[in-house]
Amino acid sequence: MAIRIRGLQVRYRDPRGRELTVLDVADLTIDEGRRLCLVGGSGSGKTTLLNVLAGIVTPTSGEVRYGEVDITKLAEAERDRFRAKNVGYVFQSFNLLQGLSALENVAIAGSFGGLSAREARARAKGLLVRVGLERRLDALPGTLSVGEQQRVGIARALVNRPKVVLADEPTASLDEDRADEVLELLEEIVAEEGSTLVLVTHEARVRERFSDVLDLKALKSSPSTPASKGRAEEAREEAR
Ligand SMILES: Nc1ncnc2c1ncn2[C@@H]1O[C@H](COP(=O)(O)OP(=O)(O)OP(=O)(O)O)[C@@H](O)[C@H]1O
Ligand SMILES: [Mg+2]
Repeated sequence: MAIRIRGLQVRYRDPRGRELTVLDVADLTIDEGRRLCLVGGSGSGKTTLLNVLAGIVTPTSGEVRYGEVDITKLAEAERDRFRAKNVGYVFQSFNLLQGLSALENVAIAGSFGGLSAREARARAKGLLVRVGLERRLDALPGTLSVGEQQRVGIARALVNRPKVVLADEPTASLDEDRADEVLELLEEIVAEEGSTLVLVTHEARVRERFSDVLDLKALKSSPSTPASKGRAEEAREEAR
């Protein structure tokens, strides 16, 4: 299932009522099985783009098609179902359920995705072992280190063998060895399933693993016109 984005903009109003364009993607096709590394400065809209791809943020304008389905047109409940079934998302801020153990956090995502309770638990356990958390299965997120929480988030994103994996700085809190292990796991599962991967990173070591690297800046509707320049870029020019 190819993903096709057209004329996408996300705009917010700041407290003074001024409109800010935080994301502007004229045209982007992500073919099935593409392994795309997305880069861009802090605040350039990377997380916003992943949230749009996951159907968590509805864009101000434009379309986001998964095959024939424009997810911006789906009702919220349908979009939630679509996400649970098709998309695995490693959140930049983890978003773990604080009242559930590591194992339960991963298993419940499996249940939402349609696995039986037994299957979900077994697969959750297998993935948590793979990310080195075999001794922390019953730990609550609040008692885990940041890197451990990140690894629970990665296991959760993979539990349904999703057709699309979105990973937002998935190794930002990990040491180099752990980061390599986790990236290998991500790559392996994506390859096994023929899934599409969109991974955001600011780390050169991570970027080097990809042959397909895209800077968000390159996707703007009219990169050469001042009106569509990023705010950081404008600020730099003003400072000159
Ligand atoms: N709900 C919101 N209301 C207003 N502004 C927002 C909202 N969400 C995001 N923004 C703004 O949109 C811009 C893009 O944010 P985003 O989180 O997508 O950036 P990013 O590229 O992921 O940055 P980082 O590398 O720091 O994670 C930022 O300037 C942010 O302040
Ligand atoms: Mg971000």
